[in-house]
Amino acid sequence: MILVTGGAGFIGSNFVLDWIAQSDEPVINLDVLTYAGNRENLATLDNNPRHVFVQGDIGDSELVARLLAEHQPRAVINFAAESHVDRSIHGPEDFIQTNIVGTFRLLEAVRAYYGQLPESGKNAFRFLHVSTDEVYGSLTKDAPAFTESHRYEPNSPYSASKAASDHLVRAYHHTYGLPVLTTNCSNNYGPYHFPEKLIPLCILNALAGKPLPIYGDGQQIRDWLYVKDHCSAIRRVLEAGRLGEVYNVGGWNEMPNLDVVHTLCAILDELSPRADGQPYKTQITYVTDRPGHDRRYAIDASKLERELGWKPAETFATGIRKTVQWYLDNQPWVSNVTSGAYRDWLGKQYGTNEARGEKQ
Ligand code: NAD
Ligand code: TYD
Repeated sequence: MILVTGGAGFIGSNFVLDWIAQSDEPVINLDVLTYAGNRENLATLDNNPRHVFVQGDIGDSELVARLLAEHQPRAVINFAAESHVDRSIHGPEDFIQTNIVGTFRLLEAVRAYYGQLPESGKNAFRFLHVSTDEVYGSLTKDAPAFTESHRYEPNSPYSASKAASDHLVRAYHHTYGLPVLTTNCSNNYGPYHFPEKLIPLCILNALAGKPLPIYGDGQQIRDWLYVKDHCSAIRRVLEAGRLGEVYNVGGWNEMPNLDVVHTLCAILDELSPRADGQPYKTQITYVTDRPGHDRRYAIDASKLERELGWKPAETFATGIRKTVQWYLDNQPWVSNVTSGAYRDWLGKQYGTNEARGEKQ
């Protein structure tokens, strides 16, 4: 069996759902259930004996040691993290605790477990760390995309904490021989995406008749990958990745934020037109830019394609249509995640700008 951490979050829950659908191998899912963790993402697995959910922290050394001893997983896949740049700007502490201290404690527990495995267990074991392209920093407009040997230049508390965790993972391979793999992926989108991030936020705000907040001039570029493609890349790296190696994962899909929002507005105009016949793009509102906002990320995923034959199955056009349709089809999920604490976050992050519909 495998142990997944953070498997009630956006990418982790998609990974667990796909894993259970495609393999007979059981999953232990360790997730502390922060605001971003949601058991409802996994509701279809409620009576499935191949999915064991454990509410707990990756930084709880005793709990992790017990789970490893009890279930003897052949792999640990670490999704657990604080993941939102804007939240890291408001309050970096949780990012340091989970992404750095939590990953360190998890690595320590895994190192102790690995150390007592028989040789055959050692040979089969893998620790796969899920990371981000944001550790490489920001690119100028014409610079080549990030390769795995690009310098680490993180600019936000989020990316700095992920960079630190990547370094720890690397060090545990070089120092202790832990069989690690690291993936650095670009921006994901798709089902179960918590609506604090650009794409789900704009889909839900559009449908609710609220402003679509564009930071700064909206010309910041991200590479977008459909979440199921990220999951297939992780499965492939787990299966065939070379120990100690880093693999960049991306969709070959660089787009300025404004184009992303225009695309999803056009799809909404077609699938769920506004009652007044106006296009959704009229809701676009320019708001104050994010401090230290990285201008461009671009991923060169050719190593993963060349060495392991992985390619994304979706283009942005196909993936974003599926995503918009998913949000239209899953209103109960949306209503549950947009209550209470979520509204507090919107007030904190967008309060002034959103209330005034302020334009820059
Ligand atoms: P998410 O915020 O949706 O989910 C994170 C999950 O981790 C939540 O379920 C949360 O409850 C859990 N968690 C947080 N702290 C924990 C702790 N101390 N112990 C156990 N569980 C804990 O994040 P996501 O978007 O699914 O990202 C998953 C991973 O992928 C993260 O490591 C992130 O850095 C990385 N990543 C994300 C993206 C993206 O676009 N979302 C892109 C590249 C890499
Ligand atoms: P986000 O989804 O938060 O992901 P990340 O910061 O990890 O790339 O943001 C994607 C891009 O969209 C980023 O350049 C910031 C921008 N953005 C907005 O313009 N408005 C918003 O309300 C949000 C949440 C993000």
